[in-house]
Amino acid sequence: MNSEFNIHRSTFNVVDPYVVLARIYDQIMSHVDYHKWADFVIDILTDYGLPGTDDPRPPHLLECACGTGTVAGLLALNGYRVDAFDSSPTMIEVAESKVGSMLNSPDFTVSDFTVLDAENRYDAVLCLYDSVNYILEPHLIEDFFSRVRRSLKMDGLFLFDACTEYNSIVHFSSEEQQERCEDFSYDRVMRYNHREMIQENSFYIRLDSEPGKVYKELHRQRIYKLQTLRDIISKSRMKIFEETDEYLRKPPREQSLRVHFLCRRD
Ligand SMILES: C[S@@+](CC[C@H](N)C(=O)[O-])C[C@H]1O[C@@H](n2cnc3c(N)ncnc32)[C@H](O)[C@@H]1O
Repeated sequence: MNSEFNIHRSTFNVVDPYVVLARIYDQIMSHVDYHKWADFVIDILTDYGLPGTDDPRPPHLLECACGTGTVAGLLALNGYRVDAFDSSPTMIEVAESKVGSMLNSPDFTVSDFTVLDAENRYDAVLCLYDSVNYILEPHLIEDFFSRVRRSLKMDGLFLFDACTEYNSIVHFSSEEQQERCEDFSYDRVMRYNHREMIQENSFYIRLDSEPGKVYKELHRQRIYKLQTLRDIISKSRMKIFEETDEYLRKPPREQSLRVHFLCRRD
C-alpha cells in the first residue's frame, strides 16, 4: 500500500502554507547549515562594501520572508541591526520565541512582499531560501524588487536566491517522501509542472499531540529561468554584481540547485 493511497483515504484539514508547517519547520530543515549560510551572507555583503559591526551604528539589514528567523538571529548575534518580516504569523511566532531575551534581537513583523514600504533605508536587504519562488507572476517579482530598491540606501545591496529548474526536474518532479520525527510525521508529495513551470509540494502533517488528525498544506512556487530574473533585476533599476552556485562563491553551473544574486541599487 503506497503512502499516497493512505493519504487519500484520510480526511485531512486543509490549512494555508506554514500554518502547521511552522511548528515543525526547523526540524525538517535541520539538513540546512544556516551558520554557513549566514557566514556566506556576511562574507559576500562585506566584499561589496557593507561596513563592519564595530562601527558605533552597525549596518541595518532587512530580511524579507525570514521564516522562523534563523538567519536573522545569526546576523543579529554577529552585531547587525536586523528587521525581518514574513507573511506567515505562525512562522513569525516561532521566530520571536527563538530570540527570547537575546540582546540586540531582530525586530520581527508579519508583512507581505506586496506591501513592502519600509520606513527605514537599509544597508542591505535579503530574501533567502526559495522565498522569491513563492511569487507566482513575473510582474509581481518586479513590483517586489522595486519596493526592495526603494528600501535601500544609495549603494545598498540586495541578496536573494532562487531555485533552479534543474532542481525541480531532478529532485522534485514526481517524488514522495515520508519522514517520522520525534513527535510528528509528514508525507511530502512533489510535482513539477514543466509547461507552467510551477512546483507544487503538498505536505500531509500528523502531530503526535493531535492523534487522528492530518493537516494538508499545498505550497505552490514558480520556477524562473535565471535570465528572467536577470531581466527583472535590470528593470527594477538594480545591477547584478555576482551570481553564486548555492552558498559557494562560484558562478552557477547548469546543475546548480539554487542561485544567489548579489545586486546593488543602480
Ligand atoms: C522556504 S521558506 C524560507 C524561510 C527562510 N527565509 C529560511 O531561510 O528558512 C519561504 C518563506 O517565504 C514566506 N513567504 C511566502 N510568500 C510570502 C509573501 N508573499 N510575503 C512574505 N513572505 C512570504 C513563507 O511564509 C516562508 O516563511
